[in-house]
Amino acid sequence: MKKILAVIIFIVFTSCKNDKNLFKDPSASIDQRVESLLSQMTLEEKIGQMNQYNGFWNVTGPSPKNGEQADKYDHLKNGLVGSMLNVRGVKDVKAVQKIAVEETRLGIPLIIGFDVIHGYETLSPIPLAESASWDLEAIKKSAEMAAEEAAAAGINWTFAPMVDISRDARWGRVMEGAGEDPFLGSKIAMARVQGFQGEDLSDPRTIAACAKHFAGYGFSESGKDYNTVDVGTSTLYNIIFPPFEATIKADVKTFMNSFNELNGIPATGNAYLQREILKDKWNYKGFVVSDWGSIIEMKVHGFAKDLNQAAEIAVNAGSDMDMESYAYVKELASLVKDGKVSETLIDDAAKRILRVKFELGLFEDPYKYCDETREKEIIGSAKIHEASLDMAKKCIVLLKNENNTLPLKKEGQKIALIGALASDKNSPLGSWRIAAKDNSAVSVLEGMQQYTGNKLMYAKGADVSLGKTDFITEVYINNTDKSDFAEAISVAKKADVVVMVLGEVGYQSGEGRSSTNLDLPGVQEDLLKAIHKVNSNIVLVLNNGRPLTINWADNNIPAIVEAWQLGSQSGNAIAQVLYGDYNPSGKLPMSFPRNVGQIPIYYNYKNTGRPTLPEKDVVFWSHYQDEKNTPLYPFGHGLSYANFSYKDLLVQQENNTIKVSVNVSNTSKLKGKEVVQLYIQDLFASITRPVKELKGFNLIEIQPGETKKIEFTLTEKELGFYDNSGKFIVESGEFKIFVGGSSITTLDTSIDFKI
Ligand code: NOJ
Repeated sequence: MKKILAVIIFIVFTSCKNDKNLFKDPSASIDQRVESLLSQMTLEEKIGQMNQYNGFWNVTGPSPKNGEQADKYDHLKNGLVGSMLNVRGVKDVKAVQKIAVEETRLGIPLIIGFDVIHGYETLSPIPLAESASWDLEAIKKSAEMAAEEAAAAGINWTFAPMVDISRDARWGRVMEGAGEDPFLGSKIAMARVQGFQGEDLSDPRTIAACAKHFAGYGFSESGKDYNTVDVGTSTLYNIIFPPFEATIKADVKTFMNSFNELNGIPATGNAYLQREILKDKWNYKGFVVSDWGSIIEMKVHGFAKDLNQAAEIAVNAGSDMDMESYAYVKELASLVKDGKVSETLIDDAAKRILRVKFELGLFEDPYKYCDETREKEIIGSAKIHEASLDMAKKCIVLLKNENNTLPLKKEGQKIALIGALASDKNSPLGSWRIAAKDNSAVSVLEGMQQYTGNKLMYAKGADVSLGKTDFITEVYINNTDKSDFAEAISVAKKADVVVMVLGEVGYQSGEGRSSTNLDLPGVQEDLLKAIHKVNSNIVLVLNNGRPLTINWADNNIPAIVEAWQLGSQSGNAIAQVLYGDYNPSGKLPMSFPRNVGQIPIYYNYKNTGRPTLPEKDVVFWSHYQDEKNTPLYPFGHGLSYANFSYKDLLVQQENNTIKVSVNVSNTSKLKGKEVVQLYIQDLFASITRPVKELKGFNLIEIQPGETKKIEFTLTEKELGFYDNSGKFIVESGEFKIFVGGSSITTLDTSIDFKI
């Protein structure tokens, strides 16, 4: 009897689990819910999930009648759209979601994407700046705040983090990444993903993240955006891939492929990247979205003959969602019917996308990100601004500080502030700031006025750019107009110290903003020289989205502060550092070249067969005849108002690890933070290894006179590398271990490591 009852319960239970409403049942597993939903979807509806559209204007009003916008609207109503991007604000998101949920046959909610790169309306520092903090907790927190603010505006998916490693400051998008190093880049990538996604993706304060751009986008030839990429396997496996793989460990929900071709195959149509590496080798379960129009751009690359073939190549190669190519929605159904694309691949892509929607909790409540009260409370709130200020201070890098020029004195020092960027409230927002209010950042002038009770003398000196700047238009630089120099000179003459804020306007770096010249743009260096003639006691504050070439400044200006584009609270953060209320601790995540001709320049280069000068004046070594090999400021460089010293470096092998310890002392009278950096060199290996590789870092705070013992453990993960077949190997042999406060380390020793 008992047995019969159990069988009946089992049958009732399974049939209930198989019923068509199973996908609505939160007690079923996500896989069961996905399967249940998929089994009810037509081919067209599955393809619809793979289609992403940019927002269209009047969805909340009368529907568009003609043209592309009308098609998009029709597609949305007919269940042929799975995602939209650039729809933001509760009212608009609700409107599109309502169509998807209430008007389509199955009511599948949309996933709403947006470029929440370093904030939504309240901006934190640009990602390159945040990376200069080397503070993983702070970076995670910053992503968490960005997610919370964006989520309050209806968004549930960000196209961030960009984890492309780049060694080329000509490429404008270095502002969006973590710099040149794969170890630091991987840690930061993970922190950002954890910050955006939190512990629980269904929490309405968290959003799905997207590791982009897979792969090689940061290695575009000559630093020109979207350009050809041709890199060898060693660079691919050891430099480009690691941050991407790290995001998978952090459970990143989505990937974006890239615009570039990689070794002859566009990334969007690259089965090696998306299927072999990402989905097979790394066993990635999330979905891949194309970059904007990158499917149809394969035609322009000369890789697909038309839209139909582009769709076929992209889907077969593993691109699951089409951003704005209209390729999948137009072509996939016929490709399946013609047998050119297997329906199993469509099922796989649709399942990947649906799974993320389930994880976000959108099937329980499609409007969970659409709460007007939260929107009012969270966006622009004090909490988000405080976090942005806290992050901004941590990003500032003190490049140079001779004669204790800094910190400034709050009393008894006549200060002149010079530079158009000093009063600029727009540039600190950078270029990824679509949802921010124009001119909403605190300027340096405003920030410093608080300390001086408005007694600051200010003169613009010269404009950096001409006319209005925006996300899509070329920036025009002022290369000639020096008419305001005179006023700045007379102000400088009256001052004890001159603070000059120079650099790039916000839109000079970012997508499509490559440069061949990295000097201070326009007439700014002439302004600096003109002021220097009348008052050489200058603090140069740089505002920029990429490393610049500032040799003259380095030779002539006593104090230089790298203040990047620091977001909404920029001026307050800069003022706190200049006046010494915050002791700077940032370290460069990218080398600063002396000369554009040195690019690509990076600390983890290879020795070559001829690394050193053989004999005075003999040319046969790897060098330039007109420039040094070294950067102006190396990777990892950054000073503090405190001083640190390193001693007692000890290394020893324990099982298959190397234990490292070092004593770091604060020899000054000020409390300070230091990023203790650990580098290795594998002296002989079956594949040549770089002269130095960062393999550990520790951000510590030390009291005046205090000494801290810092310990690291190098495991096989840090000691090994990928061979040219992509296999990770660890080899016995001699390793050099370096420790210090930059990649120009202070202490080193060697160890014979035996596996
Ligand atoms: C193109 C950019 O390359 C990508 O990073 C961004 O997320 C998309 N546009 C969407 O705006």
